[in-house]
Amino acid sequence: MDKQIKILGFAGSLRKGSYNKAILRAALELLPEDAKLEIFDLEGIPPFNSDLENRMPEIVKEFKAKIRAADALLIATPEYNYSIPGVLKNAIDWASRPYGDNAFEGKPAAIMSASSGMLGAVKAQFHLRQTFVFLDVLAFNRPEVVVTFAGEKIDDKGRVTDEKTREKIKELLMALVAWTIRLKGDNSQKAK
Ligand SMILES: Cc1cc2nc3c(=O)[nH]c(=O)nc-3n(C[C@H](O)[C@H](O)[C@H](O)COP(=O)(O)O)c2cc1C
Repeated sequence: MDKQIKILGFAGSLRKGSYNKAILRAALELLPEDAKLEIFDLEGIPPFNSDLENRMPEIVKEFKAKIRAADALLIATPEYNYSIPGVLKNAIDWASRPYGDNAFEGKPAAIMSASSGMLGAVKAQFHLRQTFVFLDVLAFNRPEVVVTFAGEKIDDKGRVTDEKTREKIKELLMALVAWTIRLKGDNSQKAK
């Protein structure tokens, strides 16, 4: 394994002022030294069409290749109507196909979520975990990063200003790195 753990991050929101994009950007600043993070924007991924599974749009090929090249995934999801947004599910569906060519197979992953309300999109996290069962994505359980009342913790420039939230994201990233090393069975880098 490369010395640095390669993490691919994506958010289930397309809007510029997205709180979930903001917590992903915060992760860029809070990474442990032994990890790097690339953020992939889901903008431009067309609606899934099974007829195109064997001649996928270029952006989907790129997304799948980046998932495959990553050691681990970091997903930030909003909650839409008690579930994950269609944009996120759509991207996941593309990358899971065609049958037998699931790019997510066995990937270590961390989930976080942010919402403007008091529940922090926790139900969306559970729905995402359900999908991950089928895709064999290995999402760990703790710490949980659930950013409630995100408008009070993220400023109008999209920077996470709340120290506790920053600390939680940092803990999540450390746990993701340790989890990834553990799953890869690389004893020389095993987290202490
Ligand atoms: C279609 C739609 C459905 C929503 N449903 C929920 C919901 O079920 N639970 C919740 O906490 N927030 C809900 N919200 C509010 C979003 O969580 C909130 O707008 C959040 O900031 C969106 O994420 P983003 O800032 O990353 O774009 C909904 C918003 C939209 C647009």
